[in-house]
Amino acid sequence: MKTKRITKIALLASGLFCTPLMAETDQAEKHFARCVACHLAEGQGIPGAFPPLKNRLAKMSNSELGRQYVVQVLYGGLMGMITVEGQNYSGVMPAQTGDLSAKEVSELLNYAVNKVDKNGKPENWKPFSEKEVERLSKTKGNPVSNGNLRKQLLENQRDLK
Ligand code: HEC
Repeated sequence: MKTKRITKIALLASGLFCTPLMAETDQAEKHFARCVACHLAEGQGIPGAFPPLKNRLAKMSNSELGRQYVVQVLYGGLMGMITVEGQNYSGVMPAQTGDLSAKEVSELLNYAVNKVDKNGKPENWKPFSEKEVERLSKTKGNPVSNGNLRKQLLENQRDLK
């Protein structure tokens, strides 16, 4: 009897602790679906149409400039010729954040990085926080200026080619 009750309490307690976390992941997964529409489920992209995020997003968001770039692309969009792993793209990515809060964007980004870079993130990679997204998204840029920011990022980070 006693064990049963303890199990019940334990289950209840784990339920209480788990729910907010799981709800957060579910939400992030739902929001990430908008990226999947173009960049595909594993972020592998479509050569010539949608660039891959796989094995890149974590690396790209591992410096102050890179984090600024990624947040700006989400808030302000990206347009213009870019080369990713030797393949050219000259597409348009519309801003994606629409009705999302900074907290939701930070969760979406953390989810995205863990999803597309599950084979490994740089050791010192830090998750995005709501505060950071709030701060970085004060500058949204526009699709063209974000393309220029990308050039600057690639000059600083040669391993992003
Ligand atoms: C409508 C299609 C579309 C959707 C939806 C979309 N993207 Fe993109 N994304 C693109 C295209 C196209 C480019 C390249 C733009 C260019 O050619 O200049 C791009 C570029 C990027 C880049 C820059 C890559 C680089 O190498 O510089 C990042 C980062 C990115 N997307 C992340 C995301 C994330 C995260 C989401 C979801 C929140 C998302 N995208 C949703 C089409 C899309």
